Amino acid sequence: MTERELFYRHLGLPSFYPMGLEIDKAEGIFMYASSGERYIDLVSGIAVSNTGHRHPKVLEAIRNQLDKYLHLNVYGEFIQSPQVRLAEYLTALLPEKLDSVYYVNSGSEAIEGALKLAKRYTGRTEIISFIDSYHGSTHGSLSILGNETLKNAFRPLLPDVRLVEFNNYCHLEKISKRTACVVIEMVQAEAGIIPVEEYFIHQLKKRCARDGVRAGLVSCSVLSIMISFLISLCWQKRWEPGCRWEHLLRQK
Ligand SMILES: Cc1ncc(COP(=O)(O)O)c(C=O)c1O
Repeated sequence: MTERELFYRHLGLPSFYPMGLEIDKAEGIFMYASSGERYIDLVSGIAVSNTGHRHPKVLEAIRNQLDKYLHLNVYGEFIQSPQVRLAEYLTALLPEKLDSVYYVNSGSEAIEGALKLAKRYTGRTEIISFIDSYHGSTHGSLSILGNETLKNAFRPLLPDVRLVEFNNYCHLEKISKRTACVVIEMVQAEAGIIPVEEYFIHQLKKRCARDGVRAGLVSCSVLSIMISFLISLCWQKRWEPGCRWEHLLRQK
């Protein structure tokens, strides 16, 4: 079988209409197909490779680590330099109170962790999320996703999830003392790249503070680290309407 045949025969494909490019190599912003064509990679592994493919510094770090060890027990038993140095780097970017990092493998798992943490910490069960949002494909993250069609085959999902309208100020009234957390994207992607209104986030922050809903950080990529960073800044009373992003990033 050719690799193309193997691809269609043996891979569980999440896409209905795969592009089916056979990629031999990627370098910088380009991907090179075995047919000899060169493509600009505008997706960059959904931002995982956003330093460019095969960036020399990334390759050097991987090679250095390969020479030491690969996988060890990651359940908090051993002090491992890459883990603790990354935690140091991330927490230095964040507000003071967000000083602890829990590593997971995907955005869905980050959402799972956040939901569990919020429920455990608050003792509440209600989770609020937004119509047309996307949060991943595990059972928990799927439960709070804002597209009913994608959920239909998997019911029953998590109970006590409430979907409200994005940028609809009246719907903020649905946040209450029963609410464990509100999960929001700063830019809804599945819905067609819709940014949240700055004033909406401001009002959301106020509503949450009134009912004791606290800030958290859920990160599945550099982009979502930034998104979550901004959310947490809101809760930390550092982001007011009209405040510029560059200014926020300079704050500690
Ligand atoms: C906002 C958001 N949350 C969660 C996820 C799920 O991430 P993953 O596919 O790594 O599980 C995505 C993925 O695109 C996302 O865009």
